[in-house]
Amino acid sequence: MEMRVPGDKSITHRALLLGALASGPGRIRGALDAADTRATAAALRALGVSVGPLHGDEVRTAAHGRTGWRVPPRELDCANSGTTARLLLGALAAQPFAATLTGDVSLRGRPMRRVTDPLARMGARIEELAEPDRLPLRIHGGALRAITHESPAASAQVKSALLLAGLAGGVDVRVREPRRSRDHTERLLRALGVRIEEAERDGSHEVTLIAGTGPADLDLAVPGDFSSAAFLLGAAALLNTGDLTIRGVGVNPTRTGLLDVLARMGVGVAVEAVREEGGEPRADLRPVPGELRATAVSAAEVPALIDELPLVAVLAARAGGVTTVRGAAELRVKETDRIAALVAGLRALGVAAEEHPDGFDVEGTARPLRGRVQARGDHRIAMAFAVLGAAPGSALTIDQPELEQVSFPDFSMLLRRLQDTP
Ligand code: S3P
Repeated sequence: MEMRVPGDKSITHRALLLGALASGPGRIRGALDAADTRATAAALRALGVSVGPLHGDEVRTAAHGRTGWRVPPRELDCANSGTTARLLLGALAAQPFAATLTGDVSLRGRPMRRVTDPLARMGARIEELAEPDRLPLRIHGGALRAITHESPAASAQVKSALLLAGLAGGVDVRVREPRRSRDHTERLLRALGVRIEEAERDGSHEVTLIAGTGPADLDLAVPGDFSSAAFLLGAAALLNTGDLTIRGVGVNPTRTGLLDVLARMGVGVAVEAVREEGGEPRADLRPVPGELRATAVSAAEVPALIDELPLVAVLAARAGGVTTVRGAAELRVKETDRIAALVAGLRALGVAAEEHPDGFDVEGTARPLRGRVQARGDHRIAMAFAVLGAAPGSALTIDQPELEQVSFPDFSMLLRRLQDTP
């Protein structure tokens, strides 16, 4: 059986934003059309940027230049999307006007100072309109200064926000992070002719944007989202499906840490027909399921599989032994506190699971799993438990199955196809 997954969410957000800052027209093929990326497109339209609809074969953006946006007539609603809020804040820091950003309950609970503090050091003024460190925020942009920023967490959103501020503001930006986070922004900027330098220094990863000419025409094909494909790989492992190939999936090494973890858990994934397009590698993925066994995920591995840890947790529920995850405190500030949500969800099904400040332990079981799981407004929690629920011996309900619309609108349909395969 063959499947495709929708376009990469991280790359789609970035392509839309870079298209909106470009001095020439943009063309994006294979963009993700889901609630998160629609939030970015809608915010850009409110800023006067011409962005075509996300459905259909390609999205076109018009040339506006690096500071060609206009005062938005209303608040910019980032919905559930942290990437929209944080990357937009970066680009808005250089625009000569003020804009207000807000989001849904989940997003209004997530930290923003990790981005607004360095942007304030660059010269933007930020007003916190409700709680400290939270949306809604009003950002007053304008002329910026160069910055060197030490990011305490490996966060691609922080790094990308500052790179976009430097790009739009025409100033140098250097970001150091303790471990390398996903590098889609750097790859895209390079492909657009922007100078980006990278170095490993004293154990940290350093990225520098050298101010110069801005991005010109953007013509990009977005690969399938590895983080969406991950749920199908997990389902193949649990359901022991027959032959499955997921075509055209992005396999950027800063995203594919799950493949090593799956291999240790007994699930091989053949990575075939690797090719490069728009500066990003893509491949066809063919899972080779085996008997699941527990593994230990350590801090060094976390950035390359941060969004796949909910899936690792549900696979661990069916793996022989105790799986441990550590060094993943960032999970506590995702769409919900994912450590708490995963442990509570697994326990509701009778699986032994323990919380740690920076991770969790899950003891695998072969018992039938029954119960009701709360997704807590988090798309990846909902989809991870749906994968577990599709496996033989499970009878579970998830309170908000519709959350797949945030990032992977075809998810249930593809999962059913896998279930229906003899
Ligand atoms: C993302 C970066 C990650 C990831 C999120 C998307 C991005 O967040 O969890 O789903 O597109 O840059 P952090 O940058 O906060 O680690």
